Amino acid sequence: MLAANSVSRALKEELAELKNRHLHRELTCVSSAQGPRLSIGRGVFVNFSSNNYLGLSTHPRVKKSARAAVSRWGTGSGASRLISGDLAIHGILESKLASFKQEEAALVFSSGYLANLGAVTALVNENDVVLVDRLNHASIIDAARLSKAKLWVYPHLDLGELEKLLDRAQEFRRRLVITDAYFGMDGHVVALDALHELCRRKSALLMIDEAHSTGVFGKNGRGLTEHFGLSGKIDVVMGTLSKALGSVGGFIAGSEVLIEYLVNRSREFIFTTAPSPAASAAALASLEVILEEKSRRTRLWDNAGFLRRKLSGLGFDLMGSEGPVLPLRIGDSQKALLVRELLWKEGLFVACIRPPTVPKGTDRIRVSVMATHTQEDLERLVSAMKKAGEKIL
Ligand SMILES: Cc1ncc(COP(=O)(O)O)c(C=O)c1O
Repeated sequence: MLAANSVSRALKEELAELKNRHLHRELTCVSSAQGPRLSIGRGVFVNFSSNNYLGLSTHPRVKKSARAAVSRWGTGSGASRLISGDLAIHGILESKLASFKQEEAALVFSSGYLANLGAVTALVNENDVVLVDRLNHASIIDAARLSKAKLWVYPHLDLGELEKLLDRAQEFRRRLVITDAYFGMDGHVVALDALHELCRRKSALLMIDEAHSTGVFGKNGRGLTEHFGLSGKIDVVMGTLSKALGSVGGFIAGSEVLIEYLVNRSREFIFTTAPSPAASAAALASLEVILEEKSRRTRLWDNAGFLRRKLSGLGFDLMGSEGPVLPLRIGDSQKALLVRELLWKEGLFVACIRPPTVPKGTDRIRVSVMATHTQEDLERLVSAMKKAGEKIL
């Protein structure tokens, strides 16, 4: 009891310290679906903080598919897919994902986070080195740490520095380069053609994380591999079902041998219950909608283009971003919280992103755009940001 009391005191002190540094986080209860509007308390907010870029989590066809899956398969999956038999819905989704991503095969995980962990820890160990972009998502860094491989970090998007590191890494058994393809906090796109060429030249394995680019980039929404004409050419392609696909879960796509290997060696696949049938069925329907309703992607890009022009016109630093993620650099946690507060008062729900999610001094308001935002929604944000800018810029 004494030990528990002293731990509890230490936790309280640490939380108080986070509050002092304006880094404390709290959950905001939402009582509606994740659409372009959110019901919070007694108010309705325009939602500028969701990764549901295409609005598919509330698409009638996607919801119908999830409902039908519950009727047919029930709610849970029972056990690991290797233990209690593999519900066909997951395999159907994997075939569809493989053809959508134009890869030989795919494997579904319970989340994108687990997909990153599952691929990296299976592929590398203490004999290897993992080379990561400094701004990669936490799941990539955690995956590399868990794998026990050496972790080497190169400056954001700096392929020159990556090349130098690859030259110094000759003694390792495997050299695995991993990067976000589209950086979800920065709106930056990696030069995938140059990165792919570098990895080929240096005989390094390349893994890309298409969590934020799947459904958003490429002529048919297949992601940045499609955009760069590199479908089927990247060693490991990770994606998530939880963002533009409007469901939950993650996947790895690549060669048949890679997928067979992961089924046998990926602890994050083997030692966890299979995803829910409804989540897989929803993602399946989303893939069809993405291919059929191209106008959603056009709308998303038009909305993002409009906001980017207007907000940079107001003097905000959009950090060289492109696509549906618009980071507005504020630079200091207190000010960033103040802007969020001002926007919330105007009925606009935006995320305030602070360290450790982003490096110190790059605190920002992250605006994420949806295809389902109306012109009026966008204009409300511009006028509220104008007022906020007058206070803080
Ligand atoms: C780049 C990136 N990779 C992986 C993930 C994890 O995906 P999920 O949310 O499906 O676990 C995220 C989600 O925040 C992400 O932004």
